[in-house]
Amino acid sequence: MLKIAVLVSGGGSNLQSIIDSISAGELKNVEIEYVISDREGVFALERAKKYGINTITLDRNKYKNNLNAEIHNILSGKVDLIVLAGFLSIIKGPILEEFRHKIINIHPSLIPSFCGKGMYGLKVHEAAINYGVKVSGCTVHFVEEDTDTGAIILQSVVEVLVNDTKETLQQRILVEEHKALPRTIKLFAEGNIKVNGRQVIVKE
Ligand code: GAR
Repeated sequence: MLKIAVLVSGGGSNLQSIIDSISAGELKNVEIEYVISDREGVFALERAKKYGINTITLDRNKYKNNLNAEIHNILSGKVDLIVLAGFLSIIKGPILEEFRHKIINIHPSLIPSFCGKGMYGLKVHEAAINYGVKVSGCTVHFVEEDTDTGAIILQSVVEVLVNDTKETLQQRILVEEHKALPRTIKLFAEGNIKVNGRQVIVKE
């Protein structure tokens, strides 16, 4: 059984996609041990509670620089994989050592475009539209010291349409995110992801 923790900051539609994949039997031998939020009262927590998943709120304004140490304390030795699903605090410090190549993040663009510090949510789609790119998409990658620079595991491409607003583009990319994240977890659970420097070899 692959034990995972899902870290969230908002609506939790990506969390829902993992829950749904487990419920549907598509994600086998995977269990969500914890859902951790860095802000109070977000809808992702309601989604988790509905399925009886253990939820923890670590308010980022309260924990400030100790947030990472607190997350590490809770998860050390307890889970095999940490999934950032719309988690907006930066992961840093010793947790990155223990969970090297065991923390993944989903980002709503084709990295290395429209990513890095301060690039999250609708800002990403606004930047893509303003730049005039013809395609955008989502990226699942490993988390390392710098923001959004870890080795890329999966990417899905979405066409940017002439009439797209940041909201319509976000919605179409979310559809792909909801496939890419459970798919990555499945590959991880089945031992089908091999890392060779920046190259990640995915066996389907
Ligand atoms: C998702 O689009 C995710 O890719 C993005 O936040 C949204 C969270 O939605 N993450 C980032 O921008 C990280 N830089 P959700 O709470 O409904 O899963």
